[in-house]
Amino acid sequence: MTANLIDGKKIAAETRKNLQIEVNQLVEAGVKPGLAVILVGDNQASRTYVTNKQKSCKAIGIESILIELPDYVTENELLNQIEELNNRDDIHGILVQLPLPKHISETKVIETISSEKDVDGFHPVNIGKMMTGQDTFFPCTPFGILEMLKYEGISISGKHAVIVGRSNIVGKPMGQLLLNENATVTYCHSKTKDLASYTREADILVAAIGKAKMITSEYVKEGATVIDVGMNRDENGKLCGDVDFADVSDQAGFITPVPGGVGPMTITMLLYNTVKSAKNKIN
Ligand code: GUN
Repeated sequence: MTANLIDGKKIAAETRKNLQIEVNQLVEAGVKPGLAVILVGDNQASRTYVTNKQKSCKAIGIESILIELPDYVTENELLNQIEELNNRDDIHGILVQLPLPKHISETKVIETISSEKDVDGFHPVNIGKMMTGQDTFFPCTPFGILEMLKYEGISISGKHAVIVGRSNIVGKPMGQLLLNENATVTYCHSKTKDLASYTREADILVAAIGKAKMITSEYVKEGATVIDVGMNRDENGKLCGDVDFADVSDQAGFITPVPGGVGPMTITMLLYNTVKSAKNKIN
């Protein structure tokens, strides 16, 4: 079979249009949604991500401020900066771009961000709420994937979802969000033996591994939905995912491309969470 393409760009554009309407309503009610982004050091990839996040905010009328700190900033200075933002009424979301320099504890940083402004959905309070099925800020990449599945009308309840990758940012919350939707969830990772024996059983396969084109058709059941979270460079330096798209698209029922799949939805859900936080201020 030839897979249906899940067009992340299109779904993101539609979602952002709806968010823009909500932003306009908030502004009319006297609340301009505000996001503060903290960038520590000069990691080029992080800078690109942050620039894209800011541009996307501005495009729908979210106020976005960038706080750049040198890589030698002390942990205390960074924590103080976060506290200051926690106390600002015009800032509804705080995002500290990861990774951080080694001398700074990411755990401390995440736990210092007010859980009410944690638009990344990384704070233990928000993770706990997600685990207990409560509404809260969900981590943007898995949340975006969930939205894509729903948009495409792909049923989740009773389906077997196999997640390859167990990061705190993608793999673990992805499994939890799908479990909340009544999927049967299997987590696989770098220590899993005979990975293909699990992935071939997946109705929904999420690849968040970080290895270019690792998932070939032998890993995929006929008709499965294949979601590719990878952002790698192939042997020619071209952007590619964890899934061998050309090979798998004959086998899958639905598939996300790279680029233009999961990526645009990740930033969209950051905008969604920021608008949600601003709405919490008037509700
Ligand atoms: N670094 C890579 N992905 C992310 C993300 O989603 N949020 C933050 N804060 N840092 C990241």
